[in-house]
Amino acid sequence: MTDQRMLTGDRPTGKLHLGHYVGSIANRVRLQHQYESWFIIADLHMLTTKNTRADIDQVSGNARQMVLDALAAGIEPERATFYLQSAIPEIGELNTLFQNLVTVARLERIPSLKDMARDADKETDMPYGLLGYPVLQAADILCVKANAVPVGKDNHAHIEVTREIARRFNHLYGETFPIPELITSEVSSLVGTDGQAKASKSLGNVIYLSDSAEEVRKKVSAMYTDPNRVSADVPGTVEGNPVFVYHDTFNDNPAEVAELKERYRAGTVGDVEVKDQLAAALNRFLDPIRQRRASFETQPGLVDQIIVEGTERTRREVQQVLAEVRKAMGLAGAYNQLRRKAERAQKKGATQPGEPTRLRPADAVAYQGSR
Ligand code: TRP
Repeated sequence: MTDQRMLTGDRPTGKLHLGHYVGSIANRVRLQHQYESWFIIADLHMLTTKNTRADIDQVSGNARQMVLDALAAGIEPERATFYLQSAIPEIGELNTLFQNLVTVARLERIPSLKDMARDADKETDMPYGLLGYPVLQAADILCVKANAVPVGKDNHAHIEVTREIARRFNHLYGETFPIPELITSEVSSLVGTDGQAKASKSLGNVIYLSDSAEEVRKKVSAMYTDPNRVSADVPGTVEGNPVFVYHDTFNDNPAEVAELKERYRAGTVGDVEVKDQLAAALNRFLDPIRQRRASFETQPGLVDQIIVEGTERTRREVQQVLAEVRKAMGLAGAYNQLRRKAERAQKKGATQPGEPTRLRPADAVAYQGSR
């Protein structure tokens, strides 16, 4: 392991599914051995589309679920640091500073933001915070000076913005941030079980990492396949057929997949058999994940502890980076000049109207990065 850092994460909107797995989790599990790993639970990002009290009340439960999913999928708690975004106010401060390093026009060109606005029914009244989503993401990534960010396709443009902000900052204020690398996964996004281009919780076309074997069988038997194939003796199309996409992605027995494809094309296998084999393959894939989940679940409070310790560790780290940022920008100097003058005036015993200002040492400490 090097001293290189990787940062990634998700909004705490619910359980993780197979689309998350191929889009980013598989990469995260692999990369944890090469990088010091950080996982953000991005609840401030969630607020850009879901910000009712009811949404917010679900954050802690969803955060716990998400971390449990990640641990079940193979992230090792000794290697990874999980943190809750909203518990680190310095991220918001960094976001404020970064907002001046990117143009509105640049953000308006990002298709994923339009997609998110549309999915949230906010197409015609895009919230300011949603437009700024990638800027906040840059703050997440750069606040721990991450070098690598493994994310799915829908986040690629955001990482490009992070890189631009880091370069711009370094150019204006001096070398401060690494330019983080985007790490893409081989499978960019997973087709939904209903045949729609993307597996997504809101479309209800996903298989969760936490689904039981029986739930998996049910979902697979309802999966969309070649609609032209009205009976088992009609030759079918394999390409783009969700059932075969899932076979290719998750079945650990490629010979079985090749044979099923051949018979499917020839019209000598029924959909039921192809799906039965898929359900079995998916359950083989999910079984070790289920076992790891069960072992973490037997230790009450463990996940909460992992999140709290990680958040506190991260916050200390971020406070240092923020002090460095303020210094680089000269913001620390602005306040220090005011402060020195105020102190001098006080020493001279200048009489002021009303209460004289009392500068206590605590004031200086409260102002992060002012020295
Ligand atoms: N944008 C990510 C998502 O689609 C979540 C996220 C927020 C993130 N901040 C991040 C991912 C920083 C990687 C790095 O849910």
